[in-house]
Amino acid sequence: MTKKSDEPASNTREEPVTDDAQLDISSAVAVAGHPIHAMSVHFPIALVIATFGVDLFYWWTADPFWVRVGVWSAGFAFATGVFAGIVGTLELLFVPGIRKRAASWAHGVAAMVLLAVAGANWVLRLVHPDAVLPHGLMLSALATVATALAGWHGGKLIFHHGIGLMVSAKE
Ligand code: HEM
Repeated sequence: MTKKSDEPASNTREEPVTDDAQLDISSAVAVAGHPIHAMSVHFPIALVIATFGVDLFYWWTADPFWVRVGVWSAGFAFATGVFAGIVGTLELLFVPGIRKRAASWAHGVAAMVLLAVAGANWVLRLVHPDAVLPHGLMLSALATVATALAGWHGGKLIFHHGIGLMVSAKE
């Protein structure tokens, strides 16, 4: 019988462990210590929800004024969302601790869905202003749900994972 001490102790062998908790998660795209993504996400969030509200007003009043307001609010929702998305993508790609976390990618995917819907909502209004009811309204409702999902997951990155703060995990 082989002595126990001669067996390779595979279950006790010390593996080199990469400590993900030590990877940097502080924001890489910031102005004077203020992360730009955090500063920019409020605009698409507010404008997507505002566009939904504008569509509801149009449905209620049938006043074409709200159609014109909707073109602008949907357009700026998309444009500011693209800007926030570019900055968020830079954070995702360049900061190792952000890149490593699945939650960051989940938020990124939700945000890309939001941007696709917001873009479609704007183009619909440019090309077919008469289709705001019902298609624009439906896209606005979908964009609002996507914004809630993307924003919720973005918030989790900050408050659950401590990502994007200006304090390094190493400090
Ligand atoms: C499209 C690609 C996007 C990527 C890859 C991305 C990535 C990230 C990352 C890495 C963070 C962690 C904080 C940081 O590093 O700044 C974050 C936070 C956040 N993101 Fe995004 N993001 C994207 C777009 C958006 C958009 C369009 C919105 C608007 C709904 C949004 C809303 C948020 C919120 C609310 C937070 C947490 C709070 C904050 O930083 O103010 N993100 N995002």
